[in-house]
Amino acid sequence: MLYSNVVLAQATLDKQAHRGGRGLMPENTIPAMLKALDLGVQTLELDVVISKDKKVVVSHDTYMSSDFMRKPDGTDITSAEAKQIILYQLNYDEIKKFDAGSKPHPQFAKQQKLKTYKPLLAELIDSVDAYVKSKGLKAPLYNIEIKSAPNGDDKEHPAPAEFVKLVMDVCKAKNLGSRLTIQSFDVRPLQVLHKDFPDVTLSYLTANPKSLEDNLALLGFVPKVYSPYYKTVTSQSVKTCHEKGMQVVPWTVNTKEEINQLTQLGVDGIITDYPDLF
Ligand code: G3P
Ligand code: CA
Repeated sequence: MLYSNVVLAQATLDKQAHRGGRGLMPENTIPAMLKALDLGVQTLELDVVISKDKKVVVSHDTYMSSDFMRKPDGTDITSAEAKQIILYQLNYDEIKKFDAGSKPHPQFAKQQKLKTYKPLLAELIDSVDAYVKSKGLKAPLYNIEIKSAPNGDDKEHPAPAEFVKLVMDVCKAKNLGSRLTIQSFDVRPLQVLHKDFPDVTLSYLTANPKSLEDNLALLGFVPKVYSPYYKTVTSQSVKTCHEKGMQVVPWTVNTKEEINQLTQLGVDGIITDYPDLF
């Protein structure tokens, strides 16, 4: 591809901040989202789980991670304790007391530390709305991942139909409209959305070595977006996705060289921990 074509492709690339850009800020927090907006991303990628009192909480894990969370008393969470502290078994006012930002994440040396917490999805959207208004920025798109898995039903989260309803209630109340994409590795919430919310853009996350055809057969329909692990993307897979009418948005791409290579393969978006690379 000619240099000028790469520049053009990058101009139209959907630039997504993974968990708000966790290479730079504590993941899935409001300060991360605001920083990503300052860096000019189009899309905020984030994950949601459900609390015991059925609130939609922004969190990658269904438990309190020992990597970067601290208990309300400021002490570390051991890895043995971590998976015992399940968000679906805590009310949100208890979840909010845990520190989600001041413990250095071992994977991200550049990450800024600050005292913050796991926000509600509704609160995060309100904060983003207020921020873009105050700064005169364009309202971002949202790529919201439903964190469910078949073996977690009723233990770590509600079953798919209820999970989807809780998330969509917030998204509708906050008028995300066409700015919303819902993504999942779990085909079940995507199937519920396809049937009950046909207007919502769906993104199918994959990490497995199955072929594109096998994955689509598992899902049972062709979604608007295919979101594979970035190392599995080839020019042929991009071409096939485009022929089927899907955009390709690989995750999680953390070097400039890899962003450029994938752009040259023709992907439509990039999800990165480092939105400053764009
Ligand atoms: O959106 C893609 C990416 O977020 C999937 O991986 O585990 O970081 O949620 P994960
Ligand atoms: Ca995610």
